[in-house]
Order: sequence, then C-alpha cells, then structure tokens
Amino acid sequence: MNTIIQKFLSESQNAHNPHDPTSITLESIISKICELAHNGMGFTLPNPLVGALLVKDHKIIGRGFHRQRGMPHAEVEAIQDALNSGHTTDGAILFCTLEPCCHTSKLTPPCTKLIIDSQISGVVVGTLDPNPLVSGKGISFLKSQGIDVYVCEGALEEQCRQLNPLFNFHIVERFPYICLKWAQTLDGQLSLPPTPNEKNQNSSTRQYLSSEASLIDVHRDRKYFQNIFISGQTLRNDNPRLDCRFFDPRYTPNKFVFTELFNFENFQYEVFSNTPPEKLFFIVVENKNLSDSNKKKFDKNLLKLKELNVQIRHYVHSETKPFDLYGVFQDLYEENFVSFYVEPGERLRKLFFEKHVIQNQPIVKHCKIYVAPIWADQNALTSSTQNKIPNEGDVLRFSPFDSVDSIQRFCESWSYKSIGPDILYNVAFKKIT
Ligand SMILES: NC(=O)c1ccc[n+]([C@@H]2O[C@H](COP(=O)([O-])OP(=O)(O)OC[C@H]3O[C@@H](n4cnc5c(N)ncnc54)[C@H](OP(=O)(O)O)[C@@H]3O)[C@@H](O)[C@H]2O)c1
Ligand SMILES: [Zn+2]
Repeated sequence: MNTIIQKFLSESQNAHNPHDPTSITLESIISKICELAHNGMGFTLPNPLVGALLVKDHKIIGRGFHRQRGMPHAEVEAIQDALNSGHTTDGAILFCTLEPCCHTSKLTPPCTKLIIDSQISGVVVGTLDPNPLVSGKGISFLKSQGIDVYVCEGALEEQCRQLNPLFNFHIVERFPYICLKWAQTLDGQLSLPPTPNEKNQNSSTRQYLSSEASLIDVHRDRKYFQNIFISGQTLRNDNPRLDCRFFDPRYTPNKFVFTELFNFENFQYEVFSNTPPEKLFFIVVENKNLSDSNKKKFDKNLLKLKELNVQIRHYVHSETKPFDLYGVFQDLYEENFVSFYVEPGERLRKLFFEKHVIQNQPIVKHCKIYVAPIWADQNALTSSTQNKIPNEGDVLRFSPFDSVDSIQRFCESWSYKSIGPDILYNVAFKKIT
C-alpha cells in the first residue's frame, strides 16, 4: 500500500544527504521533535512534554512544543507556526512525539479536530498515549476521518516515550513517582552539627555535606520533579530555599512541608518569601488526642497558615485511625500530582522505608544517595579506616540497604558514579506485587 507517509519516508530516505542540514529523515525529525519537547521542561506538569513539526513538500513549515499547562498543545503550536509564516497546511504531514489528544473535557480543545480542520494528510506519532483509557483513541479517530497515520516502533518509539518517564509512571501506576534523595557521610550520618557563627554567637551555620557538583545535580533534579517534599523538622533546622538556583533560577517547583508537631514559632522561613502561596503546601497531620494546650497551639498555627494563603492538606489521626502515609500520596495522585522529590532527614526516611519494605506498600520508586568523603564520627576512626575511601559494601552498610544483598532484594537496578569528590548511588526499586 503506497500511503502518503510511506511515500514521504521512502522519498526522504532516497534523497537524504548527510552533509545537508535541511535534508530530513524520520530519525532526524524524531530527534528534532524530542528536542523541541524538552523546551517545556519544568512547566508542563501535570501534562507531559510534547514536541511537533509540520512538514510539507519535504520542508519543515511549522514547529511547536507544549510550553505550559493550560497553553496550546504542541500540535496546535506547530500548525499555528506554519500559518503565521504564510504556509498552508493542506496535504502536510504532522510529526508529534505523543499521540494527539481527542478528549473533550479539557482546558484546551482536542488536537485531532484541529488536525482534521487543517486538512493535514498524514500524522506520524512517536508513542501512544500511556493512559490505557484513551491510548489509541486519537489514532483511531484520525484514521476514521481518512488521515494516514504511522506509529513509530523500536528505538524511535522509545526515544519519544523516554521524554516523560515520571509522567508515564504516574499514569500507569495511578500513584506519584517518588524519589528519595539524601546526602550522607561515609558512616551514614545525614547531618553534621551546625558550626557556630563567628560573627554572631547566637546563630550557627548549616554545614552542607555534599560538594557543589552534587548540589548542581540536586538542583537539576528539582527541576525535573513537580514537587519537593521535606519535613517540618528540616524546615525549622535548615530553613532551606528549595529552589533550583544552581541550575535554573527561573524555575519554582511546588514545595511540600510535612508536619505533625506543627511547632513553628513564626512563619519567617525562606520558602514563604520565595514561593507563591499556590505552590507552597503544608501537609498537617493532627493527632486527635492532643492535650488542650497543644490543640490551642495547633489551631493557632493552622489559622496563621491559612492567613498566609498557602495550600493546606489537613489529616487527623487517632489510635483507631492510624496515620497513613501511603494514603496521603494516593490523595495527592487524585489531585493530579505527578512526581515528588523527597529530601528526608533520618526519621522521614525511616517512615518511607518502613512503609515500603516492612508494610509492603510500594511507595518509593527511586533513591539517590550522595555519599560525601567525610567521617562524621571522628572518634570511631581507626588508623585502618582513616583517609580510606570505603568500597561499595562499606558505604551500603551505613544506609537503609545495609548490604549489597538487601539492595538486590528490593531493587530493580542500581549503579554508582563519582560526582565531584562524592559518590552518587542511583537505586531503582522493584515493583512489589
Ligand atoms: N543529608 C540530607 O540529605 C538531609 C536531607 C534533609 C534533612 N536533613 C537533615 O535532617 C535533619 C532533620 O532530621 P530529622 O530526623 O530530625 O527529621 P526528618 O527525618 O526530616 O523528619 C522528621 C519530621 O517529619 C515530620 N513527621 C514525621 N512523622 C510524621 C507524621 N507521621 N506526620 C507528620 N509529620 C511527620 C515531623 O515534623 P514536625 O516536627 O514538624 O512535626 C518530624 O519532626 C535536619 O536538620 C536536616 O539537616 C538532611
Ligand atoms: Zn492535544
């Protein structure tokens, strides 16, 4: 069958000149639309990254990517770009990284309708929609309207799918993608005592464990995730900014603070001044059996927080209704939250691991562990351990995995690499069924 797309593909293959940058092949177009899609990084969630190109007479006539949630989809942008530069779209072929949408209950009209109205003849789709409820529907609809459709396979399909691994996970698993990240010393400490401030005797300076190279890596990840999640204790101790200033200062992720004690004297923390209130969330867990005085304090803080207009999710637990961390994330999934970058201290990490490993609730998908070449406990050093970089088994001994064996039990894959003077462990969790 000599379809429009097959004709285009064989003609472009025959005419391909590797020395001519305007010469196009399916592979080069897929690379271009993936590159375009990346421009939306950090701004599209809870929508995926999507890129699109419109080709007519073997020339690219329109380019588009999804810029931000609520803004036009990539296909619309590519068609508009072609029209803005004086082209007509009839008979053109649209290339897009993701199957065009055909939903009607959305902020933007379905792209399939615009494709048909624009008299486009063929659509090349990088990968199908990961949502099983709609996957294939956009394509069937286009085909039913007489449009030639080709869906990529193999490496090209994979290239387009890998644009949105966290988004795809949350759609398929119906649960947010959760990555735990922490920095630790060689002997497993997550924090060092603050150093006294020389100028001001009443204050102290937080000591970073990991190097600047690791910090840049963390800031890059913060942009990749929709939400950062810390504890109230870390907010009080460290007063972190939770931004991406070493990677992309323009980007502000959502910030979540998880607190039970709700023990804040005031709300003069950095996150209140550097985050718009719609992006700052407090998960407040109230113990139903609080004493009268603690309940008063709790209510006062809740009121103060409400006055600051930040987002509050209030849970109440008691002896008969224990607090359920897994349930909190199920609720957050229902609210369309895609991915969480959790920066735990010792106790929060334990809470996640207990859920995952002991109670068999698959809450953690991924861990990133930055191991700094520091021994926290100088007294424990012996002449044989001093200045010695331990091997991987030694490092794991001081982590929740405690050994290579246990890492293999829980984890699908793991690897490590140097990052500045630190070692970064990347651990992907197995699915618990
Ligand atoms: N090395 C690293 O990568 C890293 C990362 C983050 C933090 N840290 C360090 O870790 C230190 C804090 O460690 P940590 O062990 O004390 O605290 P943590 O592990 O960060 O978290 C414990 C806190 O989580 C909240 N929490 C725990 N269970 C809860 C529940 N069921 N419901 C609601 N909230 C709950 C509580 O906050 P409330 O007290 O507000 O109720 C609790 O104090 C900080 O000083 C920081 O420097 C290190
Ligand atoms: Zn669309």
